[in-house]
Amino acid sequence: MRILITAGPTREAIDPVRYLSNRSSGKMGYAIAEAAIAAGHEVLLVSGPVSLTAPAEAELISVESAAQMYAAVRVAILRCDVAIHCAAVADYRPAQIASEKLKKTSENLTLELEKTEDILGSCRSPFGFEGTLIGFAAETENLEANALAKLERKGCDYLVANDVSRKDIGFDQDENEVIIFGADGSRQALAKQEKRELGKAILELIPARENP
Ligand code: PMT
Repeated sequence: MRILITAGPTREAIDPVRYLSNRSSGKMGYAIAEAAIAAGHEVLLVSGPVSLTAPAEAELISVESAAQMYAAVRVAILRCDVAIHCAAVADYRPAQIASEKLKKTSENLTLELEKTEDILGSCRSPFGFEGTLIGFAAETENLEANALAKLERKGCDYLVANDVSRKDIGFDQDENEVIIFGADGSRQALAKQEKRELGKAILELIPARENP
């Protein structure tokens, strides 16, 4: 099957040399991509800026910003049977990008931020994606309640929730520990393990008809 995977952070420009971003390394998304290729799937990897090498067999679309990731997913998703949204997409970006490097002219600087596009939340509508939709939730509190709300709000079949307040898992770690919530009411807790192993478990969520 053809699987779209988003991975890594986005960068939201402030001026020509500065940006807002987050600590995502891309390891989780790239681990899912590697597991998918090993399982015989075709992979379309939409990746924010990371220092990892994409699997040679993956079709790589490199992007920087949330707007670019949104545009790439919008074009590619209808060619895919499954979409796994692991990227840590910025929720806000500077409302204006300064054309020149900002000068240090005052004691304080206030940036006005505006919402970015909700990529995962757009997959069902307006994109019209009808395949298996798997989202992630990065939470620092009320993991279960927040994840269940995202699962429903974003029209996912599954939501993979991780506790990103922990230093030993999640952002920029080789291991992760997750709870996978299903739209069918299922709940599967996966113990702390290598992201590659978790990638395999996440792929097992794909219904048999969509397996190669
Ligand atoms: O990259 P690593 O260092 O390996 O770290 C892995 C990870 C912690 C980034 C990963 O496991 C993870 O949790 N990814 C989701 C991060 C995130 O943005 O979570 P969120 O709860 O803010 O977003 C919920 C979902 O909506 C995610 O599927 C996200 O991709 C998506 N989203 C969010 C905002 C936005 N504007 N558009 C989106 O599509």
